[in-house]
Amino acid sequence: MPYRQRLIIALDISSGQKAYETVERLKDYVDIFKVGFELFSSAGFAIIEQIHRLNKKVFLDLKFHDIPNTVSRAASLVTKLGVYMFNLHVSGGMEMMIRCRESVYETALKEGITVPKIIGVTVLTSLTNEILKEELFISHGVISHVKRLSALAKRANLDGVVCSPQEISLIKKTCGKDFLVVTPGIRPSWSPPDDQKRTSTPREAIKQGADYIVMGRGILRHEDPLKALELVSVEMMTA
Ligand code: C5P
Repeated sequence: MPYRQRLIIALDISSGQKAYETVERLKDYVDIFKVGFELFSSAGFAIIEQIHRLNKKVFLDLKFHDIPNTVSRAASLVTKLGVYMFNLHVSGGMEMMIRCRESVYETALKEGITVPKIIGVTVLTSLTNEILKEELFISHGVISHVKRLSALAKRANLDGVVCSPQEISLIKKTCGKDFLVVTPGIRPSWSPPDDQKRTSTPREAIKQGADYIVMGRGILRHEDPLKALELVSVEMMTA
């Protein structure tokens, strides 16, 4: 897959107008834009339609985590919007994932639209072994937890998982090379880690086998986002 189809720009921006301007500015270099809580809470479905009108794809990052009925109904609506990819927390359990997938396939078939990729969130890239243990009472550590949740997502027939770049090769080894890996927590050598704890450079993530890398602040907060994009693209191409 060419690098520009593997780079996802996180539109962590609260204004719909500013997000739209960002997509317009970057659209010749990027194919997929991620709409998360912040932007969705302010701009709603309209921003998704606007991005689609520019012929760009949307990764809807709302990380569904609720009872099976609620998630499957929301997933059906998201499918009707024609998003390219969306996600849900694997820790919502097997039944939630299975019912979500069934409702997505049923809706896509009924509406005659492309089935979106369903991606499971494993362990957030801002979490560490200490946080898992001390706050969430999960004592077997991040790596083992990511491995277990990925295996569960695979059994539920999800298309892949979101995880930190440091777990890519482990997931490819356990779940197979066709199981998609989407990684945020990407920090080129020139950008600060911010709140991300388990980070890697774009080059390393691609080398490890990431199918998609998600980048927000590393590009959008750079003084020259197009320059940052160019540097990241070169890193990805030479990985
Ligand atoms: O600015 P930065 O590159 O850190 O943005 C990463 C993006 O990826 C954010 O939009 C964040 O919500 C998202 N994300 C994450 N960790 C996950 C899943 C999604 O950082 N496990």
